[in-house]
Amino acid sequence: MKNQISRGLLCAALVSVVAGCTGWQSAMDAHGAPAIQLYQLTMLITIVCTIVWILVVATMVRAIWRRRERRDDPLLRDPMMERRMGLAVLAAVVATAIIISGFTAASFFTTRAIRLATSDVLSIRVRGLQWWWEVTYVDAAPGKTFVTANEIHIPVGRNVRLELESADVIHSFWVPSLAGKQDLIPGRHNDLTIRAERPGVYRGQCAEFCGLQHAHMSVFIVAEDSADFEKWIVGQSGQAFSSTESEAAAGKQLFLSKPCASCHAVRGTSAVGATGPDLTHVASRRTIAAGLFETTRGTLAAWIADPQTLKPGNNMPMVPLSGDDLRAISAYMASLR
Ligand code: CUA
Repeated sequence: MKNQISRGLLCAALVSVVAGCTGWQSAMDAHGAPAIQLYQLTMLITIVCTIVWILVVATMVRAIWRRRERRDDPLLRDPMMERRMGLAVLAAVVATAIIISGFTAASFFTTRAIRLATSDVLSIRVRGLQWWWEVTYVDAAPGKTFVTANEIHIPVGRNVRLELESADVIHSFWVPSLAGKQDLIPGRHNDLTIRAERPGVYRGQCAEFCGLQHAHMSVFIVAEDSADFEKWIVGQSGQAFSSTESEAAAGKQLFLSKPCASCHAVRGTSAVGATGPDLTHVASRRTIAAGLFETTRGTLAAWIADPQTLKPGNNMPMVPLSGDDLRAISAYMASLR
């Protein structure tokens, strides 16, 4: 009975360890070429280090065992034995040097391989701010460049270069299922190549402590086939959808007359603020507040009503609104698809 319980506990522990390695935010569940290269490097180092560890422990146990057996054995001071022991130490030192050089070479070639920079690269500008991500799709055609936030759509099977900048402090962009991490440093341009081999939503997280809400600075990569991606680009580069529904229309007028418009932009309206996220298609994004809540009319209303309680320290002030005004503005926000 006791044995069965301990076996059950062991199985449960193993299952949770293995299950913890999969999912939409895991370097152990790689879905993009750079992440796959990093995964292979990690596995190589882990396996070699495990073998070395087992060998070291086995040698140590054997030495302790033999010393017990032959405590008074004069052979221990035998010159032949001394020579053999010297050779064993030399072999171990050479093996260590070879393994460390091998790891260094493997890391060097992996770093070179994950840069992937070739032709046919899609460039997207990503700026880190306390505590959200501004995403700009630059297009040479006039009026086609657009700005969004916290959700980056990419086409499957294509290299995407993220041009990383920071507006305030150091952040770190990390979507473990697709690539390694890269810092966003004020006054400096870094880039990171990502690539998704199959469609899906991959979650990322700021990986550098950047202030009070560092833990609430997520990003989502939505990888889709090229037809869906093109459709998304056309939708996002267009102007905001204007709802004719009366509550949303009233909400639009309120939004433009209140302080909202001085911090946020909604393309096609007089709201051109650049402090907060662009809201042109806010309702089409999966989440608000950098992954804190799913986007629904309810969460939008809650956020507008009291952003400081939901995400203390963020830059959005509480704007006093009546219940009717709050309902109208949230209806307008929820209509921006
Ligand atoms: Cu941004 Cu941590």
